Amino acid sequence: MKNLAIFASGTGSNARRIIEYFMQSPVAQVRLLLCNKPDAPVLGIAEALGVPTLLLDRAAFYQPGNVAQLLATRSIDFIALAGFLWLLPSCLVQAFEGRIVNIHPALLPRFSGKGMYGMHVHQAVKAAGENQTGITIHYVNERYDEGQIIFQASCPIAPEDTPDTIAQKVHALEYQHYPQVLEQLLRKK
Ligand code: GAR
Repeated sequence: MKNLAIFASGTGSNARRIIEYFMQSPVAQVRLLLCNKPDAPVLGIAEALGVPTLLLDRAAFYQPGNVAQLLATRSIDFIALAGFLWLLPSCLVQAFEGRIVNIHPALLPRFSGKGMYGMHVHQAVKAAGENQTGITIHYVNERYDEGQIIFQASCPIAPEDTPDTIAQKVHALEYQHYPQVLEQLLRKK
């Protein structure tokens, strides 16, 4: 049985799906939800589902070795980012090499980098006149959205789609695939 931590700081709809997916799983359990925003809805979601939460400010998050140590005391094996926007400290990336993944709401390497998250991505995709978008699940390194790609899935964009409807399509892909891809990775680790 592997112990999974989710890092999230937003509405938490992916975190909810991941927690629920692994609730009865023999492969892994979500043991921790780490968040950097005191008012993030994801905190309430995790608490309601019985997952311990940890709220860290910037100083605590970037204090060398701190997060790795907090994860070690909880025997965390693997980290899934789900709407977490801070770059990870390099010592954490090194300590968990090959064991941290992120989901990005577009087809990387397009629509990536600092500031490209959530609705900003869908607005940029619409503005660029794309006829498809999708999701990318990738390993995390010290740079935004540049780690090795593990999985991608795409969906069509119709001319009448708006950033909101594009977001709905992308969320549906995320819910469909992220928990399963995590499970496959956790089985191998
Ligand atoms: C998700 O769409 C995720 O792909 C995106 O934030 C959203 C979080 O939604 N992540 C990024 O943009 C990272 N660059 P949620 O809080 O409802 O899961």
